[in-house]
Amino acid sequence: MDKIVSLSRRRGFVFPSSEIYGGLGSTFDYGHYGVLMKNNIRARWFEAMVQDRDDIVAIDSAIILHPRVWEASGHVGGFTDPLVDCRTCKLRFRADKLEDSSCGRKPSKRPGETPDCDLTEPRQFNLMFETTVGALQEEGSRAFLRPETAQGIFINFKNVLQIARRKPPFGIAQVGKSFRNEITPGNFLFRVREFEQMEMEYFVPPAEAEEWYRYWIEERLNWYLQYGLRGSRLRVREHGPEERSHYSQGTSDIEYLYPIGWSELEGVANRGDFDLTQHSEYSATKLEYVGPDGERYVPYVIEPAVSIERIMVALLVDAYDEEIVAERERTVLRLHPKMAPVIAAVLPLIGKSDNMVGKARSLYEELRRRHSVEYDDSGAIGRRYRRQDEIGTPWAFTIDEQTLADDTVTVRDRDSLAQERLPIGGVRAWLEQALERDWRTPKQD
Ligand code: GAP
Repeated sequence: MDKIVSLSRRRGFVFPSSEIYGGLGSTFDYGHYGVLMKNNIRARWFEAMVQDRDDIVAIDSAIILHPRVWEASGHVGGFTDPLVDCRTCKLRFRADKLEDSSCGRKPSKRPGETPDCDLTEPRQFNLMFETTVGALQEEGSRAFLRPETAQGIFINFKNVLQIARRKPPFGIAQVGKSFRNEITPGNFLFRVREFEQMEMEYFVPPAEAEEWYRYWIEERLNWYLQYGLRGSRLRVREHGPEERSHYSQGTSDIEYLYPIGWSELEGVANRGDFDLTQHSEYSATKLEYVGPDGERYVPYVIEPAVSIERIMVALLVDAYDEEIVAERERTVLRLHPKMAPVIAAVLPLIGKSDNMVGKARSLYEELRRRHSVEYDDSGAIGRRYRRQDEIGTPWAFTIDEQTLADDTVTVRDRDSLAQERLPIGGVRAWLEQALERDWRTPKQD
């Protein structure tokens, strides 16, 4: 994980936030490549969930919702973690995760393990961030930053049913920021207090819930394989009844083998009719499906839920590679081309050659209208290749002496390092075809 954090920072993917003020623990800002990569993750998810299907529509609900939403959902009463304070080192720990925590004075020990540790009794700590709406902090102005995007979908169920004229099975997808005042954030982007969730609520006839639950586990697992995560690093783990959330009739985690061990990448839950029933009761608005022949029922909900942050860490970890090439160490991100922040680099072999620069710039201008491409003419060509390898650029087009003679360029493949020659006029079509090819990581399991 240290190597990923250091590369992310060095190459401008992710910076610690508020650094000039000393930082704010486990909060991050995204640089240019981080933004491009997040855009790709979001776009690929949206394609798979909405664009490529005709049974799922999109929504973008508010972050601050009516406070009653969070009473109905169970978050005000139950979205808590048990917390203990240490009176000696003044640190806070999750009482149920002491095994994974380090003592503030002796990091090699767990809290409670040394005679100095003086832990309080566990108390429940609500993870929602509170705020006030309006100018005055008075009774009735208390509100919350949403801890999940899902509730913004449930409260719009009726709108979508009527206006988008949908009938179960159908889904509503949402991408947006969620906030949780995690007691122990950490492991880079894995557990942060502000993250971008991608959730889809799929409303189904109750009798079909189990079938759709299994379907979505499979769909989501295949999505990760399609975008290059190694099968050996992915597994599905079904929760036992004691582990499930209050709303869940069945939950499976798609886990990835992160450097911290097998951990939840995405959750797929069968939420039953819990949410629509609760919101019907609390809002006095019936949230149900009524068919043309009068049949009525409260649909069950199947929910795949993930954050862009967890996907980003998994993609970076899976892609990171070091190898020796021509007696020099090369660091390379073997990212799926549709996830890589930059798809291709255009490089004049000699940055001081006006002719090469002219040709390279005009190719760059042609490609950049459609794709995320970069132009670079500074420094030795080897150094420029290495820089592109580190940000995961799958292909580099190089303009050299021969280009000036016959209008061909070389294309260098990031993974195999193979080079082939192409007519300069065919580069755009070549790139578009290359993007559509199946991609598998050359990394061994
Ligand atoms: N609506 C259901 C829900 O929010 P969850 O298991 O609490 O369920 C779903 O969260 C997904 O959101 C997780 O699988 C993970 O990908 C992501 N997630 C949750 N908390 C996170 C955090 N503190 N930092 C980054 N991602 C987080």
